[in-house]
Amino acid sequence: MNKKNTIKIFDTTLRDGEQSPGASMNIEEKLRIASQLEKLNVDVIEAGFPIASDGDFEAVKRIAKTIKGPEIAGLCRASIMDIDRAWDALKYAGERGRIHTFIATSDIHMERKLQMKPAEVLAAAVKAVKHAANYTANVEFSCEDAVRTRLDFLAEMVEAAIDAGATVVNIPDTVGYTIPFEYHNIIKHLKDNVPNIDKAVLSVHCHNDLGLAVANSLAAIQAGAGQVECTINGIGERAGNCSLEEIVMAMRTRHDIMPYENNINTEHIYAASRMLSTITGIVVQPNKAIVGANAFAHEAGIHQHGMLMDKETYEIMTPESIGLNANKLILGKHSGRHAFVARLTELGYALPKEDVQKAFVRFKSLADKKKEIFDEDLDAIVADEIIRVPEVVKLIQMNVSSGSFAAPTATIELEVRGKLKKVAVIGDGPVDATFKAIKKLTRMQPRLINFSVGSITGGTDALGECTVRLEYEGHEVLGQGAHSDIIVSSAKAYINAINKALDFSQRTKIHI
Ligand code: KIV
Ligand code: ZN
Repeated sequence: MNKKNTIKIFDTTLRDGEQSPGASMNIEEKLRIASQLEKLNVDVIEAGFPIASDGDFEAVKRIAKTIKGPEIAGLCRASIMDIDRAWDALKYAGERGRIHTFIATSDIHMERKLQMKPAEVLAAAVKAVKHAANYTANVEFSCEDAVRTRLDFLAEMVEAAIDAGATVVNIPDTVGYTIPFEYHNIIKHLKDNVPNIDKAVLSVHCHNDLGLAVANSLAAIQAGAGQVECTINGIGERAGNCSLEEIVMAMRTRHDIMPYENNINTEHIYAASRMLSTITGIVVQPNKAIVGANAFAHEAGIHQHGMLMDKETYEIMTPESIGLNANKLILGKHSGRHAFVARLTELGYALPKEDVQKAFVRFKSLADKKKEIFDEDLDAIVADEIIRVPEVVKLIQMNVSSGSFAAPTATIELEVRGKLKKVAVIGDGPVDATFKAIKKLTRMQPRLINFSVGSITGGTDALGECTVRLEYEGHEVLGQGAHSDIIVSSAKAYINAINKALDFSQRTKIHI
């Protein structure tokens, strides 16, 4: 492969992606995503912003210690304190640890936000890059809001950062403002006018406010950018970031006119997308390119006819190429442990033996009630049985009575920090009564932000899945629960969210 034409894929799902409203993840969840990114073979994982919180620091450190293939980046402002903190977490990755430092360079950001003169911003960037370069040769520098930066100043910043030791220089479209033609010209201008540009890789980082993040990134690649920053499912600040699956599949599918390579194992894309939406509760829209439920569905008769004659009539890439339908095993009550484990592995779950056993028991009991078990059912089983935060609060038993006449009453028994507690509470409906009872027993008053109920797969025998988003002491958490009784699943989701809130308090040591 011609190395010159290989575009590095820098995944920032765990940093910029986590900045999406409601996408916060705990350390275990971040580690799961990071190992899926390792399978995808991304070149760089941006694991977090170490100075932002103790939780972020720990996550970057654990990822730097655990993940072996990709480079691990940590974000920091152009400040000595930030850089020292970032390296403390990144040093465990050795040469693969990348310090990513940034400062805003547009007039509006410098004047209104930083209240600094351009010369001061340039000096701060040089100082930061030099300080980072004392730790590692792997230093990335970003000019925040580069697209709205005066071009001559941008070129000056890039040159100074490279001279100071940056090996990657990023030109973000922080506010998702540019269009392909303009972005192409910015990258080309830097390529043509920055004297030391060959000493660094130019990176691009596009937000999707105008729906152009992927198109802009492709335009930048054609102008000479060597690294693309992107996220799974395109999650990220506001309208999100350039979507990894879209940019990678665009490069692969239109290789005829874009002769660029990347190192991604595309058959792990689908599992990565599902894993992220299961963990964050952020569902993928059905018509989303590449990973949406309808992305490979052919509804119109004329299309179905064409597909039967020759798939290429309407299919520009195969579902198998992103890991969808590839040797799909249909699981049911006759499926054995081997098939079960094989499917879990394909979905990206590498579980220890005892967890496999727990999940298998749960699978068998569901298979007794339901003819076919779909991937979504397996996700729910794994999420519900295994991927759990420490259970400070446990549901022991519950009974709810409701109807058009009786006052809805929930009688619930919980184990809270090892002690059994029971209460009966009346509410405005069975779910309200359930949540009130849990609040009473835990003596916690979280604010309910969102509650949703869905059936995981079709049929009245399907598992009902509930998602609860709570705010507790300034922090948002997402809880999930699945059960064939929808009220039990809402209780499980609520308790899961409460356990996550307690886990967060514990980790940040702010509230115990
Ligand atoms: O959008 C942006 O400018 C960023 C930088 C910190 C790289 O996320
Ligand atoms: Zn960003």
